[in-house]
Amino acid sequence: MLRKILSLSALAAFLCAGAAITQEKETFTADRHKELGMGCESCHEDAQPKAAPAEPGKACAACHGPMEEVAKKTGELFPNPHDNHITQANEVDCTECHKGHKADATPCQNCHVGMKFVKTPQEQSK
Ligand code: HEC
Ligand code: HEC
Ligand code: HEC
Ligand code: HEC
Repeated sequence: MLRKILSLSALAAFLCAGAAITQEKETFTADRHKELGMGCESCHEDAQPKAAPAEPGKACAACHGPMEEVAKKTGELFPNPHDNHITQANEVDCTECHKGHKADATPCQNCHVGMKFVKTPQEQSK
């Protein structure tokens, strides 16, 4: 029960987080998909969208699979952004971190100040 309460309050803090920038990239998620040859309709309901996708996470899952699948791709990162106490205890939408047309965010930093996702635990503690 206590664990559940902790995970719920963690999710609340997670969802209220501001835009803490992660590993900075020059383009946003949607631009990078466009560069890979994917149209607007790969994430949106239609080819000329005027609004955000109703359920963005569903679109991601169609190509990337569930969180557990993506977690394998980032298995060398510490901590693993896709496999941690937040993603294990809650349904977290991909777009909480990978914004479509804005800089990525990691709400983890709301509680873990300065948290980075790096290749080894040694680098993390630097
Ligand atoms: C990789 C997935 C993805 C692709 C590809 C994509 N979008 Fe989006 N789009 C999103 C997400 C997620 C949102 C929700 C807001 C956000 O995270 O930026 C969004 C929001 C929007 C919005 C609502 C306004 C806003 O910024 O919130 C518009 C308009 C939009 N997209 C247009 C487009 C157009 C036009 C294209 C094609 C050139 C496109 N999108 C391609 C994921 C995508
Ligand atoms: C039509 C299929 C498709 C959809 C829908 C899709 N992706 Fe992708 N995505 C790809 C492919 C293909 C790649 C390149 C190979 C890889 O890294 O898996 C990629 C790469 C990525 C990458 C790493 C590369 C980068 O520079 O960003 C992220 C992060 C990502 N996608 C997130 C998302 C998110 C979040 C959504 C939903 C809003 C989404 N994708 C929707 C197919 C898709
Ligand atoms: C807690 C924040 C967070 C959430 C939630 C999240 N990601 Fe990520 N994701 C990251 C970070 C951080 C990286 C590593 C740095 C980067 O590439 O931006 C990453 C990397 C990726 C990559 C590149 C992996 C590679 O090949 O190196 C893909 C693809 C991806 N995420 C897709 C997704 C999808 C799909 C979802 C939803 C099922 C998702 N992510 C949810 C933070 C997150
Ligand atoms: C609401 C605050 C909160 C948020 C948001 C949060 N954490 Fe935590 N996290 C904690 C607390 C509390 C602990 C336990 C005390 C400690 O070990 O520092 C913890 C412990 C951890 C640990 C070490 C213990 C373990 O589970 O292995 C890791 C790694 C971790 N968090 C990663 C993350 C990542 C990655 C995110 C973002 C996806 C995140 N946390 C988001 C509060 C938070």
